Amino acid sequence: MDDLVVELAGLLGEAHVLVSAQDQAPFLSDWLGKYRGAARAVVRPGSTEEVAAVMRLCTRHGVPVVPQGGNTSMSGGATPDGSGRAIVLSLTRMNRIRALDAIGNTITVDAGVVLARVQQAAQQAGRFFPLSFGAEGSCTIGGNLAANAGGVAVLRYGTMRELTLGLEVVLADGRIWDGLTALRKDSTGYSLRDLFIGSEGTLGVITGAVLKLFAQPHARATAFVAVPDVAAALSLLAVARDRCGDRLTAFEFMTGDCLSLILRHVGEARLPLGAMPPAAVLIELSDQDDEPGLRDRLEAALLGSIETGLVLDAAIAQDGTQAKAFWRIREGVSEALVREGKAAKHDVSMPVSAMADFVAAADAAVHTAALGVRPIVFGHLGDGNLHYNLLPAQGQDPAAFAALTPALTRIVHDEIACRRGSISAEHGIGQLRVAEMPLRKAPLDLELMRSLKDLLDPAGLLNPGKLLAGKLLPASTSN
Ligand code: FAD
Ligand code: MLT
Ligand code: ZN
Repeated sequence: MDDLVVELAGLLGEAHVLVSAQDQAPFLSDWLGKYRGAARAVVRPGSTEEVAAVMRLCTRHGVPVVPQGGNTSMSGGATPDGSGRAIVLSLTRMNRIRALDAIGNTITVDAGVVLARVQQAAQQAGRFFPLSFGAEGSCTIGGNLAANAGGVAVLRYGTMRELTLGLEVVLADGRIWDGLTALRKDSTGYSLRDLFIGSEGTLGVITGAVLKLFAQPHARATAFVAVPDVAAALSLLAVARDRCGDRLTAFEFMTGDCLSLILRHVGEARLPLGAMPPAAVLIELSDQDDEPGLRDRLEAALLGSIETGLVLDAAIAQDGTQAKAFWRIREGVSEALVREGKAAKHDVSMPVSAMADFVAAADAAVHTAALGVRPIVFGHLGDGNLHYNLLPAQGQDPAAFAALTPALTRIVHDEIACRRGSISAEHGIGQLRVAEMPLRKAPLDLELMRSLKDLLDPAGLLNPGKLLAGKLLPASTSN
């Protein structure tokens, strides 16, 4: 029997050290089915102290560790490589809500708590935790932090970085960094917390967090709006911002092709408009009260925009059920893309005002490179974040399209680079984009990140092959 596995079982109990192929299977492939890895063992510690003990043991043995939460990563960030050397450290047993302070508006949780449970706990306490997106039923707070998750409410509440006050992290050597502060102001040195948010399991294992809570919105107004194109959607965004201010909570864009794909694959999705539009936006306002007044405000903004030609048609939800039906369309996009077949996914961000120009340029460039390729474009328009996915031409051999994907990704990301955008807005680099980092990040960026990585994980055992490739050569010295 593998001596490391015996020691791990001694630490955690045999039931929490998975070695059989059957037990390990759910942990070794990603949600998109793009990556499949192997592990020496999958371990499920039940406490911060147990995580620390596992890290001390793995560091002593020189064994790589892949932290994993809900395994919903869209960049292969939580999937081990095929060597079988690594331990997958699943945080899912660490699922306690440690404290909720309704006066201080904070909730303290284990890293393995599922996002939907934090939303429910906040609601039961008369508060609101705003992070929200399609995977909320299975992704965990630790993964949300490690990937600096975004989702549909960033427009009003920010990404996970803005929603976090404190962290507890187990370092590669097993030391526990207790940064579990609920302070909203603390200027006593570097923001160590922010180093770990978005670090994708490569700098430490997040075991706990203090998150911000907000006042519960009691009124919502939701509309599904047909627009001519992304340029009109951007103008409508400006109108919605002017007329609705901070009440504007979500502004989700979809092209007509994206909508058609969703309706084709998601049975319960129904288009609430008279005809299939060229593009559409799901707009949601929320406020403390006066739902009729909120709906009136939204309606006035839309009526004015019909006159100016920004809006072609609109449906305003009359109740929560209709609003949910509108959201079911938007949330169906990921599953629709998976059902349609392997898309070339791009999760890009850029200055908001550059988006219309980007879509026009990228569409033209990819059509030149791949006749019949089908852009499926949707995303969080107010954040400057588009999910620019590409599907093969109708009837094209998937293998032939897969062979085209690197060139298509290069084209899309070149269009982003010339707009000073990012090749990963919210999904992280993972293993999907790691090879592009030297191409897309400035040498100084990479040097500083590498220095931090070498400081916190000198043996390179934390999530190897993700975010930062192997050791970069030291900056060349001219002498
Ligand atoms: P995992 O997939 O388990 O891990 C993600 C990364 O974090 C990996 O690098 C892993 O090593 C690391 N990690 C996990 N837990 C820890 C920990 N405790 N300590 C240190 N490192 C850790 N993402 C968005 O941002 N916005 C969206 O709108 C969005 N929509 C999605 C819709 C669907 C249908 C799906 C399947 C995914 C979507 N995602 C979205 C992507 C994904 O859900 C998020 O990145 C999520 O935050 C990952 O959480 P997780 O617990 O599943 O993490
Ligand atoms: C979304 O916004 O739905 C997600 O980021 C998932 C995706 O891009 O498929
Ligand atoms: Zn998204």
